[in-house]
Amino acid sequence: MSTSIESVMNEVRVFPPSDAFVAQANVSGMAGYQAMAQAAQTDYAGYWAKLAREHIVWRKPFTKVLDESRAPFYKWFEDGELNVSYNCLDKHLTTQPEKIALIFEADDGKVTKVTYRELHGRVSQFANALKSRAIKKGDRVIIYLPMSIEAVVAMQACARIGAIHSVVFGGFSSKSLNERIIDAQACAVITADGQLRGGKVMPLKHAVDEALALGGCDSVQSVIVYRRAGCEVQWNEKNNVWWHDLLNAQPTHCDPEWVGAEHPLFILYTSGSTGTPKGVQHSSGGYLLGTIASMQWVFDYKASDIFWCTADVGWITGHSYVAYGPLAVGATQVIFEGVPTYPDAGRFWKMIQDHKVTTFYTAPTAIRSLIKLGGDLPGKYNLSSLRLLGSVGEPINPEAWMWYYTVVGQSRCPIVDTWWQTETGCHMIAPLPGAVATKPGSCTLPLPGIMVDIVNESGDKVDDQHGGFLVIKRPFPSQIRTIWGDPERYKKSYFPDEMQGAYLAGDSAQRDADGYYWIMGRIDDVLKVSGHRLGTMEIESTLAANPLVAEAAVVGRPHDIKGEGIVAFVVLKGVRPQDAAAIKHIAEELRKWVGEKIGPIAKPDEIRFGDNLPKTRSGKIMRRLLRAIAKGEEITQDTSTLENPAILEQLKEVIK
Ligand code: PRX
Repeated sequence: MSTSIESVMNEVRVFPPSDAFVAQANVSGMAGYQAMAQAAQTDYAGYWAKLAREHIVWRKPFTKVLDESRAPFYKWFEDGELNVSYNCLDKHLTTQPEKIALIFEADDGKVTKVTYRELHGRVSQFANALKSRAIKKGDRVIIYLPMSIEAVVAMQACARIGAIHSVVFGGFSSKSLNERIIDAQACAVITADGQLRGGKVMPLKHAVDEALALGGCDSVQSVIVYRRAGCEVQWNEKNNVWWHDLLNAQPTHCDPEWVGAEHPLFILYTSGSTGTPKGVQHSSGGYLLGTIASMQWVFDYKASDIFWCTADVGWITGHSYVAYGPLAVGATQVIFEGVPTYPDAGRFWKMIQDHKVTTFYTAPTAIRSLIKLGGDLPGKYNLSSLRLLGSVGEPINPEAWMWYYTVVGQSRCPIVDTWWQTETGCHMIAPLPGAVATKPGSCTLPLPGIMVDIVNESGDKVDDQHGGFLVIKRPFPSQIRTIWGDPERYKKSYFPDEMQGAYLAGDSAQRDADGYYWIMGRIDDVLKVSGHRLGTMEIESTLAANPLVAEAAVVGRPHDIKGEGIVAFVVLKGVRPQDAAAIKHIAEELRKWVGEKIGPIAKPDEIRFGDNLPKTRSGKIMRRLLRAIAKGEEITQDTSTLENPAILEQLKEVIK
């Protein structure tokens, strides 16, 4: 952690919501926001208990609200019983069975609509199918599927029977999949033959076969394969089964399994600054409450909305704002199989027009790339259905914000810039759009009931307009419960002693004179590449595992589209090649290697080779210097403690 964090942000534009937006908002005006924040201050447990009773259908009501006696292993609504799938589906059967739940648009543009009644039937049927494979409450199921109705069905079906899903993003490699299967001791993997993206068929099951072949996966009893792409697959009669065969003859009724509020709903692996990815474990009751409350507050959800979150279900955003939140509030939502640039960079805008999307939620990296590929394209479509825009995953730069606001939202739609994390389960700092005026680049104010602060390395509050560590001072319902199988790592990562009991988010931030939060970036060695979270350590150890590599250090550097790009500094085992062609060849080999071991998103943009890495005499790699070199900056830092200062000149060389 660095000791002093300077903020250089100086954005002064303010955009209050229009009177018309305020008039229809779920929370109207600052008075509305402040009343809620005050209620949470006055009676914290009572505030959350009231919301949990209002928003969740409990099979057995809870009598305990928050148990802090085993801190930081907090329990919420612990003696209450519910089923998350019941709350997302059955709850709507009497009130709106024929309402469209999902509008699925395939890569090729084909649209399939599913009502709540149909979705309930499909989820129940697949839940029975899972049971027919002896999958039961508490078992872990890996879901490795493309964006599809089936992905939502699979997640909901697990929730219905109390099985714990762990969705692995389809872009992760077989090695990453293997590690997650082993860590979770999964009994089943649900996958597809292949996926369709940008007009191309890409095999998917193949990676599952490879993952299992890597070994250590004896726990896996079933590989369930959804036929999507029609491509060839290898078949293992022992445990492979087609989704459609398994479904055959299964009834469309399945009683939900009632679980305690603390029963794990899912594990989602995410990168940290050290070691292998951590299995972030979420609860059932508290998590569901967080997704519902944020749908109501931040997305200002209305029954007439057509909601579209573009995130893949492989990420937390796709869990909270595709698979759970929208269904729990009974929304109609769009889900999209393809990519934003196919058949051209107007795809998102065309889909907003075609489906009359009201609420559109995407990532800054997508916005930046669409500006670059066709900043005028939104003007070709009718986007008048839009009423609210959202951003997530990384800080949004004010230029991209202004384009989003004026060109996509036609200066009419508030932008909710939502700060949160895999670990927080739902939005933490984000404007309530009918209450809080927005400022480009700021995620504005905490949700009412979320006690955020900025502190120094001793955990003491820092003054406004000074950078510091972002912490959440009180436990909240939707937060991570533990790291699967590693409670010690959970304590060490999120509740280090210096933070005086607060949750350490891992971001630096500052609060301005109006109390608005500005996220400055990670304080640890976690990169945000196109909004995806990657640990530099993970990439380093993957590089170091290559037979050619003696040592590697990985840093991030600003990237126009991706937010952050990856630069690797590598020391080879043999003699460092001198000619450009040989260097290029090895660099390409290593990029491919990282792609195979972690996934294409982790491939370094650039690899530089040196005889050594800049280290202190005690052997610590001086990453600050590497960051400066990666950015092409002059090195102004003190280099007198370096063991080998001459190495800097060598690493500065760029091979074109
Ligand atoms: O650094 C922050 C950044 O993304 C991190 C969390 O990443 P992940 O767990 O992958 O979840 C992403 C989707 C919720 C945070 O620690 N981040 C996320 N949203 C924002 C953000 N940074 C600035 N502004 C945001 N709106």
